Amino acid sequence: MLKFEENISLKPYNTFGIEVKTKYFYKITNSHELKEIISRNQNIHFRVLGGGSNVLFTDNFKGLTLLIANKGIEVLEESKENITVEVQAGENWHEFVLWCLNHNYGGIENLALIPGSVGAAPIQNIGAYGVELTSVFKYCKALNKDTLEEEIITKKDCGFDYRSSIFKTIKKGKYIITSVCFKLQKFPHNVNIKYGVLKQTFLNRSPKIQQVAAAVIKIRQSKLPNPKILGNSGSFFKNPLVSKSHYELLKASYPELPSFSSSNEQLKIPAAYLIDHLGFKGTIHGGVGVHKNQALVLVNLGTAKGKEVLDLAKKIQLAVKETFNISLETEVNIL
Ligand code: EPU
Repeated sequence: MLKFEENISLKPYNTFGIEVKTKYFYKITNSHELKEIISRNQNIHFRVLGGGSNVLFTDNFKGLTLLIANKGIEVLEESKENITVEVQAGENWHEFVLWCLNHNYGGIENLALIPGSVGAAPIQNIGAYGVELTSVFKYCKALNKDTLEEEIITKKDCGFDYRSSIFKTIKKGKYIITSVCFKLQKFPHNVNIKYGVLKQTFLNRSPKIQQVAAAVIKIRQSKLPNPKILGNSGSFFKNPLVSKSHYELLKASYPELPSFSSSNEQLKIPAAYLIDHLGFKGTIHGGVGVHKNQALVLVNLGTAKGKEVLDLAKKIQLAVKETFNISLETEVNIL
């Protein structure tokens, strides 16, 4: 019989470090256990938690929290150029990046130091320094909560987009990802150093994947707060997409407004610039702050409540809307 823990604090399980309690708690170590728990407890409302690095808890939870903690990395096939590996959802993302670097497998070195678990990575198609998860993703295995069957979901069917996938949109709440399959490169690697700050770091040199990862780690450590020291969930908002005409209008008033081209007719604007421009960077609002080195990151100064963080987020959204006529969407899941 699988036994739940009761009245557990979720503070150790969310990188924001918010103190809330869950009525029931269970740590899942394999997909059979997951299936059994769900089939036997159809009447209990449950939530799935991975690394807890992209959630903001705003209240206690009266249901069952399932912590996905199944581990393992298995090589499925390899050729002269590539290797395919299946990684269990509960593996820590950065530890998987380190595993790849140790084995000299390329493809995710730009994604070093992103907090969170492997199983959560496809949900928001994690991305940094010019690389997104989608570039190495082959398929994932996920438990369908209605049929209780494990399905294979291919890259095409995941509907990946900027910080988005079907798991966040049309199929939200329908699947629990149990493992992810990646196609990685063997040496010689195709390193991606197109992102401004990496281009400047390496100039005309062609670095090894381990050097790219070291540069990314250094940049992240200089800008982004370590959640173990200062609770946070990385970028709190997504970078907004605006039409070219909207951008031109804004550019007339803010000539230095940066933009990046996006895959469609729109331009991506750094939300950090907008928030910074409005003077929020480095400010303190009760127990919550806007990080001094990156305006897109909200931080828990110690004992912040989820609702306080949400209030500050709403204040920022309102100010950005009023000044730039842009609606900022949260990247973090508000629960
Ligand atoms: N900027 C400011 N003020 C700031 C910070 C940045 O004006 O305080 C402006 C600068 O013009 C800078 C530009 O914003 O050139 C972009 O800044 P940065 O390179 O730090 O990237 P970002 O757009 O703020 C995104 C991701 C990060 C990812 C970095 C690097 C989103 C929502 N965020 O941030 O992802 O690490 O690019 O690729 O797309 C995350 O998702 O949690 C995350 C940290």
